[in-house]
Amino acid sequence: MEAIEALKTRRSVRYFRPGEVPAHLLEELVDCARLAPSGRNEQPWEFVVVRDRRKLHEIAELTDNGRFIADAAACIAVICRPAKYFLEDGSAATQNILLAAHARGLGACWVAGDKKPYAEHVLKALSAPAEYKLISLIPIGWPAPELPERAPKRPLAEVLHWERF
Ligand SMILES: Cc1cc2nc3c(=O)[nH]c(=O)nc-3n(C[C@H](O)[C@H](O)[C@H](O)COP(=O)(O)O)c2cc1C
Repeated sequence: MEAIEALKTRRSVRYFRPGEVPAHLLEELVDCARLAPSGRNEQPWEFVVVRDRRKLHEIAELTDNGRFIADAAACIAVICRPAKYFLEDGSAATQNILLAAHARGLGACWVAGDKKPYAEHVLKALSAPAEYKLISLIPIGWPAPELPERAPKRPLAEVLHWERF
């Protein structure tokens, strides 16, 4: 899928049909994530790919708005060392995963990590060092046949400002 088409047609997918996602596809998603831009090129990220069903349930239950992680084939946790630009870096990596997943016909959704009280519990469940930051959890799977409505987006004319605000 062409890049502009991928980013124009991506949407958050929270309903999955059963079916495994091959390891090489999950590996490709992480490969795309690690190529994201990074402040001072510190690349403070680590990616934990969870496929174990019990672990998926455990993580899902720790979240508030991410219970559907339990229905996904896998979940990628984006975790950063607390470098200066950890949140920007981890967010760029997260977006790369979302777009790459969509380009491969997979469904995915950004589930909040940073700022959530459950972040420390998720880090612990994943055996990550406590000083690291959970940026996002990204459930991945084959989308259920009926895609949800597209989330409303503010129109271009409203958000685009030429030369001054
Ligand atoms: C920082 C951030 C945190 C988010 N956290 C959640 C979440 O916890 N649960 C969820 O279902 N969606 C979450 N989302 C997805 C948003 O709800 C979604 O991107 C938004 O509604 C727009 O829909 P779209 O992704 O289909 O364009 C999050 C998105 C971002 C960027």
